[in-house]
Amino acid sequence: RLTPLPEDKFSFGLWTVGWQARDPFGDATRAPLDPVEAVHQLADLGAYGVTFHDDDLIPFGADDADRAKRIAAFRTALDATGLKVPMATTNLFTHPVFKDGAFTSNDRGIRRFALRKVIRNINLAAELGAHTYVFWGGREGAETDAGKDARVALDRFKEALDILCGYVRDQGYDLRFALEPKPNEPRGDIFLPTIGHALGFIERLEHPDMVGLNPEVGHEQMAGLNMVHGVAQALWAGKLFHIDLNGQHGPKYDQDLVFGHGDLKSAFFLVDLLEHGGYDGPRHFDYKPLRSEDTDGVWESAAANMRTYLLLRDRARAFRADPEVHEAMAAAGCGELAVPTLAPGETYRDLAADTFDPDTAAERGYGYERLDQLALEHLMGAR
Ligand code: GCO
Ligand code: MN
Ligand code: MN
Ligand code: MN
Repeated sequence: RLTPLPEDKFSFGLWTVGWQARDPFGDATRAPLDPVEAVHQLADLGAYGVTFHDDDLIPFGADDADRAKRIAAFRTALDATGLKVPMATTNLFTHPVFKDGAFTSNDRGIRRFALRKVIRNINLAAELGAHTYVFWGGREGAETDAGKDARVALDRFKEALDILCGYVRDQGYDLRFALEPKPNEPRGDIFLPTIGHALGFIERLEHPDMVGLNPEVGHEQMAGLNMVHGVAQALWAGKLFHIDLNGQHGPKYDQDLVFGHGDLKSAFFLVDLLEHGGYDGPRHFDYKPLRSEDTDGVWESAAANMRTYLLLRDRARAFRADPEVHEAMAAAGCGELAVPTLAPGETYRDLAADTFDPDTAAERGYGYERLDQLALEHLMGAR
């Protein structure tokens, strides 16, 4: 089946299809998109959910009456279409006040303002039924190591998350936090640059159980890392709370391409992992329709994300079901990796009793070339 259905749990940020395509060198190429229109279009395309930054829905500085009116219109569209709001997040990067960061700004008043902005939107997220709240710290970073002690900045980052976890607990909201790593852009260097950094950080928090990850494909690839391994480690740690799917061609500026339009082979293995690795959260697309596109191209690209995911899911299933793949995996010893190195009851003392010839063991071929080609052929539809 290549037609998206709500049960596939595809979701999109309002800021993705709504991106007006302003870049550092050029003005917007598209008109603003009304969130109500976005909800209807996404539902028509078969999506399950929509996500937002506070400012995507309610312009920064809007008065209370305007705010209420916009929320009501959004709610009406959600009710009419059945679209869910699985996740929400805060814009702590567009307004110039955040130019030195939000939770890690050197300016204490700005840090306090940022917390108020988050708390206000957490209330809205909870009202709309979201279970995940994302923190992408795009401005939490520096261009020079002369101006900010990264250790102290991490103290403040931790303080902010501890305060916000406390708030969510006090309110009794059924909401977990997901940190989104990124190595750079817009800051020269961003704190918590990769999945690994974020996993280490979470363990230092007051409520580590409430905080997990929202890894983005392109962000790990900007850092030259293997997204599949990063996601696997997040799953292994019980920390894959959410995921941002998109495309990227290696270490360069953040491309936010359609999912699969970057490193397709990695996308294939990522879908394979998500589908059999126990992740049942939203498949969230965080991408930007190319600046060259008009409105039709925007909806074309939204549909392309979901269709590509479903194609890859179909190809991954075929790969897993192929008897030749089973045989090649057995030959490669894939199953053996799951067997603990010591037998039950054994200790390191028993290792001494092994008779083992490293030269003979070194002669073995693993057959990964054959397996890789089988994967590629399934990916290409050649099998
Ligand atoms: C990026 C990031 C952002 C965040 C989003 C949520 O591409 O740099 O993905 O898009 O995901 O803003 O806060
Ligand atoms: Mn990105
Ligand atoms: Mn993202
Ligand atoms: Mn993005």
